[in-house]
Amino acid sequence: MNKSIHVLISEEEVDRKIKELGEQISKDYAGQELHLICVLKGGAFITCELAKRIDVPLSIDFMAVSSYGSETVSSGRVKIIKDLDDSIEGKNVLIVEDIIDSGNTLKYLVDLLNSRKPNSIRICTLLDKPDRRVTEVPVDYVGFQIPDKFVVGYGLDYLQKYRNLPYIGVIE
Ligand code: IMP
Ligand code: MG
Repeated sequence: MNKSIHVLISEEEVDRKIKELGEQISKDYAGQELHLICVLKGGAFITCELAKRIDVPLSIDFMAVSSYGSETVSSGRVKIIKDLDDSIEGKNVLIVEDIIDSGNTLKYLVDLLNSRKPNSIRICTLLDKPDRRVTEVPVDYVGFQIPDKFVVGYGLDYLQKYRNLPYIGVIE
């Protein structure tokens, strides 16, 4: 049975915000090339939409890390499930995430990717839960700051379901 979902951020709001983020990123990287790193699985939805809104020359690579397993509380442990295909040396890297919660996943990723000598690294996240932060990470582009609630949709799952919702919702 599907549970009932309360809409927190509508499809229109999400679409509008991703367009704005794309415009800002295009301005900030004008005259440069950009290498998007999508953090699977959740980041896939925003990465595709965002990439379409950026008008500087761009490449995309994918990485999969595990954080939660099937729990809804961060374990603090991060494991690489799938590494990048391409070298990031000398590239302007933009990591694209669905949500930053404790910050553990991104802290780990940023440290790892920095050791591979990119020209620059920035972070873009659709959602940010600042109240839950355990590890500080510099976030450059944030779609929405949200309260400490477990959300689904637009890539975010509960037990692998609900990723396909076109809005951000809270399970009731
Ligand atoms: P962090 O390491 O605690 O920042 O966790 C980041 C990851 O936890 C995200 O990429 C999501 O996969 C997952 N996560 C955190 N909060 C939520 C939520 O509210 N709904 C679904 N997944 C979440
Ligand atoms: Mg994720």
